[in-house]
Amino acid sequence: MMSFRSISKEALIGSATLGVFFVAGYYFGKRKSTYSSMDIFKSHCGAKDNPLMQYVLNHSLREHPALKKLRLRTMEDSWNFIMVACEQSQFMANLAKLIKTKKAIEIGVYTGYNTLNVALALPDDGVMVACDVNENYTNIGKPFWKEAGVDHKIDLRIQPALQTLDDLLAAGEAETFDFVFIDADKVNYDNYYEKSLQLLRRGGIIAIDNVLWSGRVVNPAPDDADTQAIDKLNKKLYRDARINLSMLTVGDGLTIAIKL
Ligand SMILES: C[S@@+](CC[C@H](N)C(=O)[O-])C[C@H]1O[C@@H](n2cnc3c(N)ncnc32)[C@H](O)[C@@H]1O
Ligand SMILES: *[C@@H]1O[C@H](CO)[C@@H](O)[C@H](O)[C@H]1NC(C)=O
Ligand SMILES: *[C@@H]1O[C@H](CO)[C@@H](O)[C@H](O)[C@H]1NC(C)=O
Ligand SMILES: *[C@@H]1O[C@H](CO)[C@@H](O)[C@H](O)[C@H]1NC(C)=O
Repeated sequence: MMSFRSISKEALIGSATLGVFFVAGYYFGKRKSTYSSMDIFKSHCGAKDNPLMQYVLNHSLREHPALKKLRLRTMEDSWNFIMVACEQSQFMANLAKLIKTKKAIEIGVYTGYNTLNVALALPDDGVMVACDVNENYTNIGKPFWKEAGVDHKIDLRIQPALQTLDDLLAAGEAETFDFVFIDADKVNYDNYYEKSLQLLRRGGIIAIDNVLWSGRVVNPAPDDADTQAIDKLNKKLYRDARINLSMLTVGDGLTIAIKL
C-alpha cells in the first residue's frame, strides 16, 4: 500500500479524507453495502490507498488553476465527500465539449466543482443553469467561478431544482439544452430525468451520478428509499427506447443517456 504521506497534496484529492470515511459510512451506511467505497474508484475519497487511482490522476487530471483551488477549498468543508470525482468531472467536461454544448444544466451544485469544469468547456456565450437549494455551498464556489472568468456563463438558481426545470420549460426552452448532469436528491431522480429529457435536444446528453450508490443497487433494502429510487431508474433507462446509454463504473457510477 502506498503510504498516505508519499502523495502530494495536489494528487491526494482531499487530504481530509481519513475522517470522511467515518462520516460517509455514518451518513450512507445505515445498511452494510455490497462493496466498500474503496472498491468503487472515486478519486478524492480513494486515492490515498489506491496506487492505480493515483496513476490515473497523475496521468490524466488537468485542472484549470481556479478549478484546482476550488477543489482544495472544497476539501476543507465537512461535506466534501459529496463532491463529484475529479476524473469523472473532467470526462463530463470533455464530453460536453465534444457534443459542442452551448447550454447545460447542473442539478445539484454543492461548491460547483463540476459546474465550473463544464462552464470552462462552454463557448463564451454559453450558459450553465446551476440548480441548488443551499447557498452556503454555492457561495464557496462563486469566487473561483469569477477567478476562472466564467461567472457570466453560470446562471445560479437557488430553489428546488424541479421548480427551475419547470421554469425553463415554461419559458419555452424545451429541446434547447445540450448537456444535463443530475446529482441532487435521489428520490427525485426520475422527475429530473423526465424533465431533462424534455429540455434536451436530440443528440444531447444526460449524465446521471451515483447510479451504483456504493453497490447498494445490487440488493436494495426495502426501507431504503434512495437505493430503491436509483435502482428503479436504472431499470427504466435500460428499457427506455428514447435514449441510447452507457453505465460507467467511474466514481460512484455514471450513466450517460443520449437522447435519440
Ligand atoms: C452530491 S451534491 C452535488 C455535487 C456537485 N455536482 C459537484 O460537482 O461536486 C448534491 C447537491 O444537491 C443539492 N440538493 C439537494 N436537494 C436539492 C433539490 N431539491 N434541488 C436542488 N438541489 C438540491 C444539495 O444542496 C447538494 O449541494
Ligand atoms: C503520483 O504522483 C505523486 C506526486 O508526484 C507521487 O508521489 C506518486 O508516487 C505518484 N503515484 C503514481 C502511482 O504514479
Ligand atoms: C446557512 O448557514 C447559516 C449560518 O450558519 C444557517 O443559519 C443556515 O441555516 C444555512 N442554510 C442552509 C440552507 O443550510
Ligand atoms: C443507438 O444504438 C443503436 C444500437 O443499439 C444504434 O444502431 C444506433 O445507431 C444508436 N443511435 C445513436 C444516435 O447513436
